[in-house]
Amino acid sequence: MSEPKVMDQQVGRRRENWASQVGFVLAAAGSAIGLGNIWRFPYLTGTNGGAAFVLIYLAAIILIGYPIMITEMAIGRKSQRNAYGAFAALAPGTPWWLVGALGVLTGFVILSYYSVVGGWGVAYVFKTLLGMLPKGTDFAGAFVGHITATWEPIFWHAVFMGVTTAIIAAGVVKGIQRWSEILMPMLAVCLFILVIRSVTLPGAMAGLSFYLKPDFSTINAKTLLDAVSQAFFSLSLGMGCMITYGSYVSSKEDLTRSAAYVVSLDTAAAFVAGLAILPAVFALGFEPGAGAGLTFITLPAVFAEMPLGGFFGVVFFFLISIAALTSAISLLEVVVAWLVDEKGWNRQRAALLTGIGCFLFGLPTTLGYGVLSNITFLGMDLLDTYDWIANSIFLPLGGLLTAIFAGYVWGTRNVAEEANKGSTGMAVGEWWAFLIRFVVPIAIAIIMLSGIYQKIAG
Ligand code: TRP
Repeated sequence: MSEPKVMDQQVGRRRENWASQVGFVLAAAGSAIGLGNIWRFPYLTGTNGGAAFVLIYLAAIILIGYPIMITEMAIGRKSQRNAYGAFAALAPGTPWWLVGALGVLTGFVILSYYSVVGGWGVAYVFKTLLGMLPKGTDFAGAFVGHITATWEPIFWHAVFMGVTTAIIAAGVVKGIQRWSEILMPMLAVCLFILVIRSVTLPGAMAGLSFYLKPDFSTINAKTLLDAVSQAFFSLSLGMGCMITYGSYVSSKEDLTRSAAYVVSLDTAAAFVAGLAILPAVFALGFEPGAGAGLTFITLPAVFAEMPLGGFFGVVFFFLISIAALTSAISLLEVVVAWLVDEKGWNRQRAALLTGIGCFLFGLPTTLGYGVLSNITFLGMDLLDTYDWIANSIFLPLGGLLTAIFAGYVWGTRNVAEEANKGSTGMAVGEWWAFLIRFVVPIAIAIIMLSGIYQKIAG
């Protein structure tokens, strides 16, 4: 297989390219599909009243997510740079590099607690495997017991962060592309089996109608902000992740179509995860508004209700861990690509030091349910606080500034020209420019300010 190389003018090194369009789509989908789909989306749907939230989320994906996905990939491919370097190269002598710098910072913050939740997933692989979860009884109690402990979650956080660091240190293109190719389809098969079990549980109908029959009376500013920030989080947008991945794409490839595949795969994965989890929540008598523990409490209960449940439990938590891993590496890659491109560090050193930094920065969130549970911010525990600051402020702000940059600084003509290079019929044009210049910035600004205001005003 030939791997085209592009000369990086600035540092005089060759920049690696994805081996094929499929490879790029899988890596980007691997980044997008993760805990956001399987853990965050179902519980946000649960706390935000169900189907109406799902519809608003879909609107956010189509009107905001997809246009920004194309924009970020085009910025990356054009500049052939990391998030920081891309803005610096396309608008030299201006402060726009700050947007890239904010992205690098955001990646660091998200990874620090993402790894903690990823660690819960890995821990559950072993707990299910060794039969350490209770059979048919107190799943909520078991989960709370797990996250309120001190050393165990720290240990699994270290394991998850260690594997993430090792993969990035070894280089992304080879290992992760191959792993994504094998494991993402397995995750899909497993999810479908779970959906079938979940929707056929007696009492699942209440969950289905909660998930699919909208009741718009539950919508407020917080719901809108949750939907928009979830769209950014799930699609890996707003912090230069797709800029970084786009910088490894050759100009022969069809960018707009790749973006459409990534967005569709990610949305389908979230929808199916909700379908696997929410009916079971109702059938088994859990609270849909339970919050961050929903997936980890509900799924073990579903496994207990099915033949070969132990087996599926192990497989499923393993696949969740893998999905989380292919996302975590993309977060780390944003920081590492910056250190490698701009600071001239070698990849191993950058990965190792960033990995250690993220581990340490995430420590308070592992302890936020136990010894540090008295520390709260606006009523949130530490993990929710990190999550809220990164997702409700940093990602939408990054997306807003990226849209303004594309619409008014670098210019929609330039973005479209880059995005359409290699296009085979899905070229972007007027509608995209209209969304990026007007709809995206105005919608994000209003939703972000009102959502933050509502949160702070209580
Ligand atoms: N999209 C991933 C998920 O759904 C998380 C993630 C990876 C991410 N890279 C990102 C979120 C960049 C925001 C920005 O789990």
